Amino acid sequence: MSSLKLGDKAPNFDAETSEGKINFYDYLGDSWGILFSHPADYTPVCTTELGTVAKYKDEFEKRNTKVLALSVDGLESHKGWISDINETQNTSVNFPIIADEDKKVSNLYEMIHPKANDTLTVRSVYVIAPDKTIKLMITYPASTGRNFDELLRVIDSLQLTAYQKVATPANWKQGDDVVISPAVSNEDAEKMFPKGFKVVKPYLRTTPQPDAK
Ligand code: BEZ
Repeated sequence: MSSLKLGDKAPNFDAETSEGKINFYDYLGDSWGILFSHPADYTPVCTTELGTVAKYKDEFEKRNTKVLALSVDGLESHKGWISDINETQNTSVNFPIIADEDKKVSNLYEMIHPKANDTLTVRSVYVIAPDKTIKLMITYPASTGRNFDELLRVIDSLQLTAYQKVATPANWKQGDDVVISPAVSNEDAEKMFPKGFKVVKPYLRTTPQPDAK
């Protein structure tokens, strides 16, 4: 069994979803992607999570990011559940949910953790860059709903640091100062960061957030 790591190519797959058959890579196109799993349909935490993701549609679009959910229940079950999500969360689910009854995708992405539950997927999140490499993996237990503001924050950081030689410090959010990569000399930093930079320690230099591209 393979063990996926950051920097690995995200495995491609074909799947049945609530919006028809998809090929993962074709679905992503040149966008960033989030693939996230749910333990099961008709469960309370998952219902709030999917409603939240639907409401964040504009935020994902701003970040050129496509979302794809997964649960190991079938299409008919998904259809009924989506109507409950729309009703109870006051939204309209606007992304596909994979019906992974044979657990093909769950196994490919190691979303079943037998010591947590031997049949249901845990709450896995994969963020995938346009070149299809895996940039982030997080695993939550079934009992803890995810913080989708945190996922947006991480995507902002990933998109900024993909194009600039900077990293984002603890609790960073869009617009805060960033830190300059240690590999950049002070001389190069002067050219790269025209807004200037502060040397707190030789290895800790901060600069106002540069534009992402
Ligand atoms: C939930 O989504 O509420 C849930 C799913 C599986 C186990 C516990 C909670």
